[in-house]
Amino acid sequence: MFLTSFLALSLTLISSVNAAPAVAAVGAAVGVGSPVQASRYPIALQANLQIHDPSVIRFNDNYYAFTSGASLPYFKASNMSGPWEYLGTVLKGDSIIPRIGRDDPWAPNVMEYNRLFYCYYSVSRDGTRESSIGVATTPDIEHGPWTDQGEIIATGSGLFSGNYPYSTSNAIDPSVLIDPKDGQAYLAWGSYWTNIWQAPLGPHLMRVENRPAPDAVNLAYDILPGVDNAFLQTYPANREPDGTRPVEGSFMYYRAPWYYLWFSHGQCCNFEAELPPQGDEYSIRVGRSTSIRGPYVDQTGQKLTEGGGTIVYGSNSNGQVYAPGGQGIMSADENNHFDILYYHYSIAVNQSVGLNYDQAQLGYNYIDYVDGWPSVVPGVPATATKTMTAVVMATETSAQSAKHTATAPKPANADPTTTAAPAPAPTAAATAASAATANAGAATGASEAATATARASAGSDPATGAKAAKDNAAPAKSILQTPMSIIVLCMSPLPMAITEIIVC
Ligand SMILES: *[C@@H]1O[C@H](CO)[C@@H](O)[C@H](O)[C@H]1NC(C)=O
Ligand SMILES: *[C@@H]1O[C@H](CO)[C@@H](O)[C@H](O)[C@H]1NC(C)=O
Repeated sequence: MFLTSFLALSLTLISSVNAAPAVAAVGAAVGVGSPVQASRYPIALQANLQIHDPSVIRFNDNYYAFTSGASLPYFKASNMSGPWEYLGTVLKGDSIIPRIGRDDPWAPNVMEYNRLFYCYYSVSRDGTRESSIGVATTPDIEHGPWTDQGEIIATGSGLFSGNYPYSTSNAIDPSVLIDPKDGQAYLAWGSYWTNIWQAPLGPHLMRVENRPAPDAVNLAYDILPGVDNAFLQTYPANREPDGTRPVEGSFMYYRAPWYYLWFSHGQCCNFEAELPPQGDEYSIRVGRSTSIRGPYVDQTGQKLTEGGGTIVYGSNSNGQVYAPGGQGIMSADENNHFDILYYHYSIAVNQSVGLNYDQAQLGYNYIDYVDGWPSVVPGVPATATKTMTAVVMATETSAQSAKHTATAPKPANADPTTTAAPAPAPTAAATAASAATANAGAATGASEAATATARASAGSDPATGAKAAKDNAAPAKSILQTPMSIIVLCMSPLPMAITEIIVC
C-alpha cells in the first residue's frame, strides 16, 4: 500500500445528500428496485474487524486475519463475520530488517506450506521505495512463536538494490504462490514505479532464487499515454514524480485452469483530507494467464503489462463501500463452496466516520466465475458454508438437476493471447453452489447488511492504534460518496494537484 495524498485546489464539495439508509442500499445492491441508484457492486459483507491490507487464511476450520501495523497484529475467528479474537503479533517487536519503517511493517501475506506458516511483510519509508520484503515463520499459527527470518529483497538501498529489477521497483506488498503444477514458489511484489514484479523463491521459501540477478518478470505495468513508459526509466529513488501508475497490492491465485493476478489500483488511503476524483480511489482488479509467469490479460484481452485489468470490485454508489483494496482470495473447499474475496474498505454510510486510515474495515464477498472470470456474488449464497447444511439439502433437487444441465466452462481459447488449456468439469459442489446462488443471494444479503453499522470489535487492539501517528487527527470531512457528491466530483472541471505523496 502506498498512500498518496491528493489535495484538490479550491474544489468545493457538496455533501448535502444524506447517505442512503442501509435498507434502501441493500435493495439497490441486489437490484430489487429502489429509488437509490442501483449499485454497480454488491455491498461488502462485514467481517467486523478494523484492518488494513488484510491477509486472511483458513486453517482447521478457523480464520486468521493479519493486518498492517506495529509487529503485525493478527486475529482469529470461527467465521468471517467474527467475533475476532486478538492473538498477538507476528513479530516480537520491530522487524529485524535494519531500515526505517521496521517498527511498522505493512501488508502481510500469510500462507501455510508443509506445516509451516509464512508471513511475508513489507518494511518501507513513507513515500519512497526505500523498502524491503521480509518473512517470519511459525509451526503453530495459534500460539507461535514466530521467527523473523529477515529480508528477502530490498529496493532503494540495501543488498543488491541497484540490480535489476530491484533498481526499478518498490519492494512492498508481497504475495507468494506455489505453482500447483510443479511446486515452484514465486514472490510477487511492487507498488507504483514499475508496478508488479515476480521472481522464483528458493526451496525454503525464505529467499529469492539467485537474488543478485533473479529470473524476474514484470506482471503488471500501468502504461500512460504520452510519457516514456520504458521499464528502465529511472525514477528518483525517493519519489515517483507524479504519483501515477497506482498499481500495488498484488495477489497471485490459482484456480484451474487459470492463474490470476489480483491487484489494487488507485489511491489507497488518506481520504480524510480530501477524496480523489471518483474512480481514482482504490479498486480491485484482475487479470489471468495460463502460466504463473504471465502474460496476464484482462477480460478485454488487454495485457496487464499494458495497463489492463478488469475491475471486479470498487466503490459503491450507495455510499456503503469506498475504496476497497489490499485484497486476497480464499479458495473454496468442501465446507466453503465459493471462493472468498476479502479486502479492506472504508465505510461511508456514516458521514462522520469511516474514511480515516484506522477505520478501514475487513470486508468480503463470495465470488463466482463465468468462463473463468470472477465476479462478486450478492449476499451469502445459500450453499456458501457448512453452516448452511439445511439450506443445501433443501435446494438439492434443483441443484442436482442444474448439475446435469450445466454446461462446462468455455475452453480457455476464448482468450486470443494465451494458449488454451482444457477446462476441468465443474465439481458437484461448485455446480450445486452456483445453482443456488441466484435465488439465495438477495435474501441472505439483507441480514448481512443489517450489520453494516456494527463497528469493529477490535477497536482497542494494537492493529487499530498502530497507524495513529500517520492519521490526520482531524475528523473526516463530510464528503460522502452519495450519488450527489459523486456526480459533483465527476463533473468538477477543476484540476487536482498533487501536493504531497506519502506512504502509509
Ligand atoms: C460466527 O461465530 C459466532 C461465534 O461462534 C456465532 O455467534 C455466529 O453466529 C457465527 N456467525 C455465522 C454467520 O456463522
Ligand atoms: C456515526 O458516527 C458517530 C460519531 O463517530 C457515532 O457516534 C455514531 O454511532 C455513528 N453511527 C453509526 C450508525 O455508525
